[in-house]
Amino acid sequence: MLLTPVTTTPIETSAEAGAIIEPFITEEELQSRVGELAYEIAQDYRNLGVTPEQPLHLLGILKGVVPFMSDLMRAIPTDVPASVDFMAITPYGPDTRRNGGVRVIKDLDDPIEGRHVLLVEDIVDTGLTLGYVMKLLRSRQPASLRVCTLLDRASVRLLDVRLAYTGFEIPDQFVVGYGLDYRERYRNLPYIGVMKSQ
Ligand code: PRP
Repeated sequence: MLLTPVTTTPIETSAEAGAIIEPFITEEELQSRVGELAYEIAQDYRNLGVTPEQPLHLLGILKGVVPFMSDLMRAIPTDVPASVDFMAITPYGPDTRRNGGVRVIKDLDDPIEGRHVLLVEDIVDTGLTLGYVMKLLRSRQPASLRVCTLLDRASVRLLDVRLAYTGFEIPDQFVVGYGLDYRERYRNLPYIGVMKSQ
């Protein structure tokens, strides 16, 4: 889904000096799109022949994915067997993941060999995180491996990554809410906003 940014009256003044958060994707738009994604995913994995023994295995990368994963998994119809696992990673070194990859700080609980894995992300920016994680997951030999992201900020991409399911394509703006943070704040907003300086 393509979004054009809308300018609306700021409804929240942040505690960060001089910053405001403008509503960008409403709670209703999020829930509606998540429902569409869940429907599409359910159709595809029914066709793939998932079973209770070999279910759709949803993998989330903590922490930003939590609200999206929570809504997505509940929107997948119950005739599609599904299981869930999470991984936490952190960039190597003091700077960013651009310099040297990522380190797993919480690995998956269960092996993924022979399983139908759907990696779920809140946002794909440079694609570098996804690149590292996909390489790691592929080495564990899943039966299939696809990616679902709520947000795709393709304009800042450095690594080409294949996204099977995308919620919204967004422009190069700093977004917070619905899991996305600024210094660990705003993850609990029920909508997505653009953070701007006043
Ligand atoms: C975000 C997001 C992705 C990554 C995408 O995580 O959840 O994992 O950034 O960026 P990239 O495409 O440039 O690699 P973040 O590091 O902000 O951690 P968080 O989910 O805990 O907020």
